Amino acid sequence: MAGRLRAAGVASPESDAALLLAHAWGRAAADVRRADLLGETPPEPVVERLEGLVAARVQRIPLQHLTGRAPFRDLELQVGPGVFVPRPETEMLVDLAAAGLPQGGRVVDLCTGSGAIALALAAERPDAVVAAVELDPLARAWADRNRATLGLDLDLRSGAAQDAFPELEGEVDVVVSNPPYIPVGMEPVDPEVRDHDPSVALYGGSDDGLRIPLEVAARARALLRPGGLLVMEHADVQGATLPAQLVRQGWVEVHDHDDLTGRPRAVTARAPQA
Ligand SMILES: C[S@@+](CC[C@H](N)C(=O)[O-])C[C@H]1O[C@@H](n2cnc3c(N)ncnc32)[C@H](O)[C@@H]1O
Repeated sequence: MAGRLRAAGVASPESDAALLLAHAWGRAAADVRRADLLGETPPEPVVERLEGLVAARVQRIPLQHLTGRAPFRDLELQVGPGVFVPRPETEMLVDLAAAGLPQGGRVVDLCTGSGAIALALAAERPDAVVAAVELDPLARAWADRNRATLGLDLDLRSGAAQDAFPELEGEVDVVVSNPPYIPVGMEPVDPEVRDHDPSVALYGGSDDGLRIPLEVAARARALLRPGGLLVMEHADVQGATLPAQLVRQGWVEVHDHDDLTGRPRAVTARAPQA
């Protein structure tokens, strides 16, 4: 099974095979590993279900669309067609945002997608007041579903980040965002991304991919109180250009951050004191 996935170019064939078996069997992955050690074999209907799942994965349908689930921090989010699948590298934005959030503070997630960052903050910082906005109605529906299933307190709105939350201008402690940032004209290599993540979630609206991120940053400036913190994800090729543009926008204490693989993937910046 893993061999078929590897031959199809799947990046993590063993792990995907194990997760698809667990999904087909309706059991936790650890439970399936234990069953395997004890020599237990899956019943015929599970094998048939697994065959269908592997055939779909060979076609490079994202693993998370097949299982309907994506892990993010301590949460299990529901995902599927119409919403960007949350990525492990985005998890560090939650740490950066939480570190800048005072007790009882207010945080806004611009471009929330499945609600990943906002819901993780609501779960990990129950003292905080969390709000989020999403433009795409399909993605917003997934965020709604996740908020309801997880039972977390989140002020979720539909609309453009560029003019979101007019009533919160100057009131927000932290704005966090993973906006679309892929340069227009650059096609993602992985079919899972190219063919299944919505294009509104991917492309940053200009040749350098920074038009939408900079518009989102400008909105963050209006929302933040003086000294408030912006946390924004970017592509690894934008580790110098986005910080430089933020300095030009008037942000101070602009720092870029590497992900766990050592690639520059997030910038933090402070709104100047009035
Ligand atoms: C890269 S995805 C990130 C989703 C989520 N924050 C995450 O990290 O998994 C970007 C999201 O921004 C949304 N989006 C794109 N343009 C937007 C805009 N102008 N205002 C609000 N949301 C927008 C897309 O629909 C998509 O859900």
